[in-house]
Parts: sequence; structure tokens; C-alpha cells
Amino acid sequence: MVHLSAAIQRIAPSATLGVSAKAAELRKAGRDIISLSVGEPDFPVPPAARDAAIRAIEEGNNHYTAVEGTPALRAAIADKFKRDNGLTYAPEDIIVSTGGKQVIFNAMLATVGEDDEVIVPAPYWVSYPEMVQLAGGTAVVLPTTVADGYRMAPDALAAAITPATRWLILNSPSNPTGAVFTAAELAAFAEVLRRHPQVWVLSDDMYEHIRYGAEGFATIAAVAPDLADRTLTVNGASKAFAMTGWRIGYAGGPRALIKAMGKAQSQMTANACAIAQAACLGALTGDMGFLAERSEVFRKRRDMVVERLRAIAGLSVAVPDGAFYVFPECAGLIGRRTPSGTVLATDEDVAGYLLEAGVAVVHGAPFGHSPAFRISYATNTASLTTAMDRIEAALAALA
Ligand SMILES: Cc1ncc(COP(=O)(O)O)c(C=O)c1O
Repeated sequence: MVHLSAAIQRIAPSATLGVSAKAAELRKAGRDIISLSVGEPDFPVPPAARDAAIRAIEEGNNHYTAVEGTPALRAAIADKFKRDNGLTYAPEDIIVSTGGKQVIFNAMLATVGEDDEVIVPAPYWVSYPEMVQLAGGTAVVLPTTVADGYRMAPDALAAAITPATRWLILNSPSNPTGAVFTAAELAAFAEVLRRHPQVWVLSDDMYEHIRYGAEGFATIAAVAPDLADRTLTVNGASKAFAMTGWRIGYAGGPRALIKAMGKAQSQMTANACAIAQAACLGALTGDMGFLAERSEVFRKRRDMVVERLRAIAGLSVAVPDGAFYVFPECAGLIGRRTPSGTVLATDEDVAGYLLEAGVAVVHGAPFGHSPAFRISYATNTASLTTAMDRIEAALAALA
């Protein structure tokens, strides 16, 4: 029998990737499944990224790069932070990793150990608590409710902080709820954090460019520049540039932290793929007009999905202001009976029932909030419409 480490036994595999794999398996077996489980845009890679990648291959860009990323890409990321966010980072304050996922794990591994706590507001991206636990720390989950728009009160944040708190993780726009923090809300969190100098902030801005509100994008290091020396600002190519498979994430932060993260990365993967780095450089320095166009496409899909879901009895649906997810609360479905006689006891049962009806969604539990489920609307409108028809019919059939 394989001996498993305590660290690996502490964590769960990614539920979102698990549901996507299950949907793909069922499809392969001939079932007609529409997958609304995965968080990846269905758009093509920007031409500037594709052209830069092809050029890099043709020029024989085959070699290891510096662990933290090529100087050209780190400089372009520093420019991006300045241009889009008003943040000043030198290229040495930037790290490029194999996806935002590795950036965040590097940060946890570099700073969190036994007895350390990380505050993770829920609903959260499935990987945060697991990464904290893999690093040996404890995730302190701070619940929020649909009634307060999935925003934690500054008082609740203050109450969750202990001398052992190392990080607060902020994610706006949020996966899975689509909630977006305003500058004023971030300023209120900053006010709390000023009283606790041991707490650093990881600002996960992966969905920065997918927003529907009139207000500009706010990130805490810009709202509270006095906290920049304990803030890690995370972003990447996956969601903005529809480059999930290229695996490029990056962050700006205090140099000593970036160096420690680079040290961890140097013993794991070393540099992110050289060709993908060249592609990301192409995207960051190329035309970005498509970002606003894509947000408009997502907005129309969001409006359609929210309208359809709101018409279904048993669901309660907040309107997401960003990202490409809707997170219906489904307390009204619990205890109901399916046509085959199964009683839906949990949100996992609800997701299982919807999968039988031909739609893959991810239940709320792995996001730290139940009963609910997450729908990704990053798929074409025709499939989304059929998926909504199926969900509506399946839920109407419950006794
Ligand atoms: C909130 C959030 N952060 C980070 C990531 C990591 O993205 P990637 O590793 O593809 O860059 C994701 C991906 O789903 C996400 O939803």
C-alpha cells in the first residue's frame, strides 16, 4: 500500500476539476452532458498572444528562463500594474508562475507553517483552504451570506484575527459568487488591518477584467498604499486572455516575499513555460480592446442565466457583478423528492440530480457554502439556453 503523507491526507482534490472530468467521462460514454462546471472562457486566445508564441517557437525559444520569469515579461507586468491598477512595482517585485494557482501556493508555502492561520472568507475559491492546509497552516473560514451580498462586515474580519493570523485572502470579483468589492469596502477592511500589522493580504484579482458594474476596479494595495508592503497582488492570463491551458499567473509584492516564493518555485517547477511567457508578453503589450467586448458578451449571458434561475421556485439568486459564475442558493430544494424517489438531502445530491438531467454544475460544499451550487456561464449561449431548459424541467419534476 502506498504510504501517504500527512500533508496530502489533509487535503481534498479539486472539486471543480473533478466534476469537469466526470462530465467529460460521461460524454465519452455517449451521454449528452452540458458542462457548466469549469471556469474557463470559451473565447480564442488573443491574436497578439498566439503570434508571439509562434514567433517564440520559430526563434527556438527552447530554454529555461529565469525562475521568476523573463525580464521582458516581468517588466510588462510591472507596466500592467501601473497602467491598470496604479500600483508601482519594479520588475524584481514580480514573479511569474505556472498559473495563478502556483503563485498562491508559492505564497502559502513560503510563509505559512504549523500554528499559522489564514482567513478565508466563504464562499471561497475551492483551492484556498487546501493550499493553506498543504502548507501546514489552518484556514479560518469567515462565512458570509447572500443577504449581505457575500461581503464580510469589517467587524467580523476584526473578530476573526488572532495573533496567529498570517494572511487575509481577498478575491474580487469572486469565484464562485461574482461579488465585487468597492473601494470603500476595501478601505474599511484596510482600517481593520492597520490595527494588526502581522496580517498580510493576498488580493486575488484574477477576474479583474470581467466586471459589469459602473464603478472602476479596486484592489487593496491601491486603495490603501500604506498596506502595499504587506500585500501580494495576484493576477494572470487564464481568465483575462482565455489562456487557462497556457498556465501563466503572476503577482506583484514586497521583494523579500517574491524572493521567497521564487526560492520555492526554483525547487519545484522552475520557470513557467517559456513559450507561454512569450505569449503572455504578447497579450499584455498588444491590443486589449477585446476585454470590454468579452465582458459585454458575459453580461448578456449572466442576465439570461439569472433571469431563468430566478423564475425557478426553490432557488435564491444574487446578481453577480463580475466573473462568469452564478451561485444559486438551493435550500428550497433540500428535502424534495426526484421522480425516481431519491430525496435530495444535500447540495451534492442536487448537483448529482442535475447531472442526471444532463447539466454538470458544482455543489456549494467545496466552496464552503451550502446548500448552493455554482454555474459557470463561460459557454456559448445556445448550450447555456439548453442547459437552463434542462435545469428548469428537472427542478419542476421534483415532488
Ligand atoms: C479565484 C481564482 N484564483 C486563481 C485561479 C487560478 O487560475 P490559474 O491557475 O488558471 O491561473 C482561479 C482559477 O479558477 C480562480 O478562480
